[in-house]
Amino acid sequence: MSRFAFLRLPVAMYRAFPCAYHPERIEDEEYIAIVSPLLAEPGIRKLGDFVQHSDITLLMHVRAVSWMTYTFCKTLGWDHVAAARAGILHDYVTYDWHVPDPSHRLHGFRHPGFAVKNSREITELSALEENMIRRHMWPLTVIPPKYKEAWALTLVDKVIATRETLRKYQKH
Ligand SMILES: [Fe+2]
Ligand SMILES: [Fe+2]
Repeated sequence: MSRFAFLRLPVAMYRAFPCAYHPERIEDEEYIAIVSPLLAEPGIRKLGDFVQHSDITLLMHVRAVSWMTYTFCKTLGWDHVAAARAGILHDYVTYDWHVPDPSHRLHGFRHPGFAVKNSREITELSALEENMIRRHMWPLTVIPPKYKEAWALTLVDKVIATRETLRKYQKH
């Protein structure tokens, strides 16, 4: 990593954000090639049927987290392939968490484990990718992330989730 990569990070994130909820505007061929096979999976497409926060679907959320974590890691010279993939997969659950059901009680604590299990049905996960998904809810899931890319994902997810939740209040 170049010594000045951290200085480039805020600019890169600022520039990337307009594409976060407009993935059709993303022109980064490498990113598109990494995530396209995952986005073609019926299970991932189904995430478009579930609301995550405010008027944002789960599919919109994971695409935004994936793109921003990819940008974050690529700017710093970290594993941006794992970042793009784990971003798409980190909330891969097959239910609406707003609908109460004993099968997904304690969603906040348990969904990273569900996401790992569901992801394994459509792709192989590296140890890094698994850790990124499994620990993204830290500090709720007490054990902290093990890799720098996993810290990036948990940070980006929190910022994005907070922005999405606040949208509800911005519209009024
Ligand atoms: Fe999550
Ligand atoms: Fe998330």
